[in-house]
Amino acid sequence: MSTQIKPTFNGIVEPDGEIIKFLDGKPVVPNFPIIPFIEGDGIGAEISGATWQVFDAAVELAYGETRRVKRLEVFAGDKALAQFGEVLPKDTLAAIKRYGVAIKGPLATPTGGGMRSLNVNLRKTFDLYSCVRPVRYFKGVPSVVKRPQDLDVVIFRENTEDVYAGIEFEMGSRVAKRIIKLLAEEGIDVRDDSGIGIKVQSRFGARRLVKAAIEFAIEHGRKVVTIVHKGNIQKYTEGAFLKWGLEIAAEEFGDIMVSESDLWSKHAGKLPEGKILLNHRIADATFFELLTKSDKFSVIATMNLNGDYLSDAAAAQVGGLGIAPGANIGDNCALFEATHGTAPDIAGKGLANPCSLLLSSIMMLEYLGWTEAAEIATKAIAKTIRNKTVTGDLARFMKNAHTLSTSDFASAICDNMTKPRRRAASK
Ligand code: NAI
Repeated sequence: MSTQIKPTFNGIVEPDGEIIKFLDGKPVVPNFPIIPFIEGDGIGAEISGATWQVFDAAVELAYGETRRVKRLEVFAGDKALAQFGEVLPKDTLAAIKRYGVAIKGPLATPTGGGMRSLNVNLRKTFDLYSCVRPVRYFKGVPSVVKRPQDLDVVIFRENTEDVYAGIEFEMGSRVAKRIIKLLAEEGIDVRDDSGIGIKVQSRFGARRLVKAAIEFAIEHGRKVVTIVHKGNIQKYTEGAFLKWGLEIAAEEFGDIMVSESDLWSKHAGKLPEGKILLNHRIADATFFELLTKSDKFSVIATMNLNGDYLSDAAAAQVGGLGIAPGANIGDNCALFEATHGTAPDIAGKGLANPCSLLLSSIMMLEYLGWTEAAEIATKAIAKTIRNKTVTGDLARFMKNAHTLSTSDFASAICDNMTKPRRRAASK
């Protein structure tokens, strides 16, 4: 028996379990990985509880006693402030660094001045450069479009650069004045009463994001990767993002990727077996085409701001943010998260839909390579929604739906779980 003293994080002792290691940007996953979780503010406690109930049930059904996530609560946001006097304790960062993979509920962010978003802080600290948002339709979810089922896209949004990097200077500040002066020297007129934001996009950042999107497409059998940009106007950031994306695709995946022009000139419009189409679209046209030609998209790689808008627009198309999952992934760390906010208006009332965090936890299962458990949970969610046994946010737009509380919805999902037949013999 080991006599080593176990580390503690904010007073909580590390549970029995193992640490996920990373090799070439990919996780090496033991059978009992320790995974820290941040419950989240507002509805966080309710949706976290529901998520773990479904998550654990799916893992148990898939693997019996042979695999289990050993979870460790870490703190951020209001709960951290109340218990430790700070919104993001060092121990939380230390735990995420040590264990590599974590999941979090929503955290409240004050708008305007003051504290920087905790979410942005976490993404920066761990260089989580890909914000990954899968958007797919679950039959029965109310949607404003006629064919929501046509959309099944995974959006890779660059997470660390662009105007979102937070390089901003207030109107009248020393740096804003200096930049305006510098621009004037270059013959560019900017009004004195301007706030200044800087848009940055590096070659390094563009290449690694597009690479991650292409690797995802290869691993998941997806047939189209679309680079979305606004390079017709912003040539040296957005246009360069496209250029560098095409560059890495040609360098590292030239044997797999087929360009749109080659698709027509060499393959008569038919993608050859085993190949992936690499095309590109202007951002505004993409909003139009996501709605009108939804099935033409499969994986999107784009810059930070475009990705932010596109992810929410796509989520709206399949029934809203309440069911849209997300993850922030780097080379040595991955953080899975609900994409909606803390919903203070319904917090503590048992009304919250846990699907966003729950589907994020399913993304985490897929990331861990525990695909059987992911499949069990996904099918059970789909069945529960098809049965019209859902939380109020969905029920109120469905005909003859039965409204469930957050925890009853989680229990209904567990009741609807069935073990895939191909694994039945192993138990
Ligand atoms: P919100 O997403 O919390 O709420 C918008 C509306 O959607 C509300 O009516 C709410 O009741 C509803 N809603 C959200 N999630 C729901 C769920 N799971 N089930 C049922 N209904 C749900 O956005 P809001 O009000 O703009 O932001 C509240 C706080 O959350 C702010 O402090 C904001 O900064 C923060 N926030 C945090 C995010 C994160 O941690 N990733 C993302 C977005 C906002």
